[in-house]
Amino acid sequence: MPPARRNFDGFLTEMTLAEKLGQLTMASANMATTGPMPGNRWDTEVRDGTVGNLFNVWRVEETAALQRIAVEESRLGIPLLFGFDVIHGHRTIFPIPLGEAAAFDPDLWERTAAAAAEEAALDGVNMTFAPMLDVTRDPRWGRISESAGEDPFVTAVFGRAKVRGFQGEDLADPSRVAATAKHYVAYGGVNAGREYAPVDASDRTLEEVFLPPFREALADGCAAVMPAFTDLAGIPMTAHRALIEGRLRLGWRWEGVVVSDYTAIPELILHGVAADRVEAAALALNAGVDLDMMGFAYLHGLPEALDRGLVTIETIDAAVLRVLRLKERLGLFDDPYARGGPRPEAPPANLVALSREAAAQSAVLLQNDGTLPLVRPRRVAVIGPIADDPAAVLGSWSAAGERTEARSYLAGLRAALPRSEVLHAEGVSCVGEETGGIGAAVALAREADVVVLCLGETADLSGEGGSRARPGLPGRQAELLAAVAAAGRPIVTVLTAGRPLIEAAVFERSNAVLMAWGPGTAGGDAIADVITGRAEPGGRLPVTWPETVGQIPIFFGQRPTGRPPEEGNRYTARYIDGPVTPRFSFGHGLSYATFRYGPPVLSVATLAPGETLEVTVDVENTSAFAGRTTVFLFTRDVVASLARPLLELRGFRSLALEPGSATTVRFTLAADDLAFLGDDLKPVFEPGRVEILAGPAADRAVLSVVTIELEPAVAPAPSPRAASAVA
Ligand code: GLC
Repeated sequence: MPPARRNFDGFLTEMTLAEKLGQLTMASANMATTGPMPGNRWDTEVRDGTVGNLFNVWRVEETAALQRIAVEESRLGIPLLFGFDVIHGHRTIFPIPLGEAAAFDPDLWERTAAAAAEEAALDGVNMTFAPMLDVTRDPRWGRISESAGEDPFVTAVFGRAKVRGFQGEDLADPSRVAATAKHYVAYGGVNAGREYAPVDASDRTLEEVFLPPFREALADGCAAVMPAFTDLAGIPMTAHRALIEGRLRLGWRWEGVVVSDYTAIPELILHGVAADRVEAAALALNAGVDLDMMGFAYLHGLPEALDRGLVTIETIDAAVLRVLRLKERLGLFDDPYARGGPRPEAPPANLVALSREAAAQSAVLLQNDGTLPLVRPRRVAVIGPIADDPAAVLGSWSAAGERTEARSYLAGLRAALPRSEVLHAEGVSCVGEETGGIGAAVALAREADVVVLCLGETADLSGEGGSRARPGLPGRQAELLAAVAAAGRPIVTVLTAGRPLIEAAVFERSNAVLMAWGPGTAGGDAIADVITGRAEPGGRLPVTWPETVGQIPIFFGQRPTGRPPEEGNRYTARYIDGPVTPRFSFGHGLSYATFRYGPPVLSVATLAPGETLEVTVDVENTSAFAGRTTVFLFTRDVVASLARPLLELRGFRSLALEPGSATTVRFTLAADDLAFLGDDLKPVFEPGRVEILAGPAADRAVLSVVTIELEPAVAPAPSPRAASAVA
């Protein structure tokens, strides 16, 4: 974190208490609603300094007008932060994070974040509430759509790429915005996948799974952190002094700004840890929360908290200073109007092209009997509630994305198949109970060479507040699927959803299934590119796809058990009414090409602390098609002082290969990478055998395994002087 250039002591001396608390307040304007309280314009409060930061407002004519009030009409002229949930694109929308994670491509992740930052800054935004770094293994939780999936290593790489893209090298660059790592911490572990539910996580899971992505993002200079709404073992994160003040600031020596989630500070009352707004404000401030988002607890509660000795003015001043420093790093004191300019008539062609590239690279071909890619079909029936719904392709948290600027699957297929007859029937609505349209859809299917069945979720069925107890096909879509399947024509099912959909019939009745996630503005064209073979389905699953809801949570990083599952043996870790294996493993995804993966080749057979291991894996495209695949590197610590996960992800590489070509993928592991947290939760490096596994998915059936011997540190050779002394 670069040192502040300005001395703000004068400001702090000059500021009234109300002005200080105004700098600690962030209010939602009324261009978007992202929480329970409606927004406002706040001109008066900006002018009198009691609101010093805004969010949910964009377009330069709006932001410049408000900034002018703050800078030219308020007493101290302190510029405003303008925050916004630029999660996967601003106006040009890219795939939802869970979808983009499927690309396993840090360069792509950074490029789309940089593009989003540039578009948002042009609209006057200077702070985004992203990346969301909540590791989760629960598809019932709607916010899995905003996550990078089940693995902390992937989430950490994803988060660092996003911070680089949003913030660039210098936050004062007017095309960049401050990033916010959220939701700190363990929100992805909500009980039963229910939104905002309590979270219980062991200290080990906290240290090994939930915290690392935040540590990495902050180490890379992420400007802000947003605590989760949830509690952690009874302590609401908004009041978690040990993990905010203690870990972020004292432990990780991070000097950024902590912004509460929407009304999360007064919600401490509902958590049952504060009797009133005064106590809630004091708890949050003393925990280390700087900005009160839409709670107005600081503004209206801290004066009395001061009088009652619950907080000190020094703590308030320290929080104000951190906010002023962020504004300084953003260049707002140098030129508060640097961000914001005329917006183009339509999303720029280069960004739409990037959206189309990202969507194809994120799409996961889950199954295919050879029906895909379609080759000049005569008549295609495009059926389903998502077929002609451009809003659905934008996915949840689509920021300033316009449905009118998005391409539906129907539009994309018609553009991609100009010489085919592309017919359409909705069949059923997404969640409605009516089935009157199924007959017409079936009639269309009967006349077609192939059916493209567009099923799944509209954007509101995932994301915040989108938890589902039965995360399958919504409404009467399963009936539509069954009726269309009975027509006997080949079916390509395109799934749009913010989560893995648990619906066996989709896979039993379809010839091919393509997971499109929420593909973004160019989604219709991108999925048409994949269906017609113009583009590769480049995605691989960043989250295990359960066979049944009862399996949740199911993920590759589980620890072993003393009674591994054994078919037919009651006394083993299994269910008596269903499988323990998922529908699809983490990393699963098909290509139009076929690949051969060589075994991992190790540069050394033993590894001691301070040494480095290089692992190479040969990959060959054994088909006549150009294709893309992803190679994963896992380890398994077979015997240790603690039961270690069945697989731990250590690296991944997504690569494109021309027909018949081959390459060698290289991974480097330091010995420290193979250390783990001992029973005291401190890193320990234990000698012993470790398996090194490589291949296309977290499934031992497709992984090649070799082993390496970890050895104790080599004792330094005695120095000659020491030798002579001994002698
Ligand atoms: C919402 C979300 C958070 C978002 C914030 C501002 O409630 O929890 O992710 O950044 O409010 O919109």
